[in-house]
Amino acid sequence: MEDLIFETGEIATLTINRPKALNALNREVLEGIARILRDVRHDASVRILIVTGAGDRAFVAGADIAAMSEMSVVEGQEFMRLGHRVMQTFEDLPIPVIAAVNGFALGGGLELALACDLILASEKARFGQPEINLGIIPGFGGTQRLPHRIGQVRARELIMTGEMFDARTALEWGLVNHVVAAEALIPETRKLAEKIAGKSGFALRQAKAALRASFTMEEDAGLRFEQSTVAVVFGSADKTEGMKAFIEKRQPKWQHR
Ligand code: HXC
Repeated sequence: MEDLIFETGEIATLTINRPKALNALNREVLEGIARILRDVRHDASVRILIVTGAGDRAFVAGADIAAMSEMSVVEGQEFMRLGHRVMQTFEDLPIPVIAAVNGFALGGGLELALACDLILASEKARFGQPEINLGIIPGFGGTQRLPHRIGQVRARELIMTGEMFDARTALEWGLVNHVVAAEALIPETRKLAEKIAGKSGFALRQAKAALRASFTMEEDAGLRFEQSTVAVVFGSADKTEGMKAFIEKRQPKWQHR
């Protein structure tokens, strides 16, 4: 599918490739992403996934407005469910996912970045939930994930005004991990991915699951979940190797997944 470019490998890259529409997400693109994520999930050779947008203007400027303008209530609901399913699939992937935000990340585009584990932004990146200006509201998880990441106070104002904010503001608010020059975005994202790929894949998977619980569970249940997850990693070959390597003053050799 030419609207998506998937380059596989230990560090795989998924590029949304509709630059003429600022990489807007329509049904076909979302279904294509769902198919790629299904393959990634079952491919043990992929250890980190990078998601980005084609061209130098946009990460993803939102769900496709032209397509949505034609949708009935039922079609709109199906589209929303598909979007939710895709965002949840990103969150449930056992491997870390990094969004490399190279331009506009608006509406469904910001919601896509919010479903990733880490976000790197180019200095040119612009973020926002402008749905209110179209007479709708965020529908791919933004009303839940945005306040979770940046707090209720800021999220309420952003969703109610629809205003955009720049990369520096996103950094100050703790939405993005790093802001880098536009030309350094992909190299810096790969550098971070390589650093993470050098860790135990099994421990990373458990860390991601426990972190996800902080979003989906009440604190008590989350703390219990962490304890059971620690018990799982304590039984792993990578725990034995990691601690042995420390004591023997050498680099560990992970078994990965
Ligand atoms: C479809 C889009 C699009 C979108 C841009 N385009 N955003 N097409 N869906 N979300 C198209 C434009 O129509 C235009 O096509 C081309 O991309 C370039 O955009 P311009 O508007 O000409 O560029 P510019 O003037 O620089 O403005 C950039 C922009 C603006 C500020 C990003 O395009 C914009 O406001 N876009 C919409 C952003 C938005 O509202 N996103 C949220 C969508 S709702 P042509 O053919 O004219 O060249 C959403 C809800 C999710 O995401 C949940 C639903 C259930």
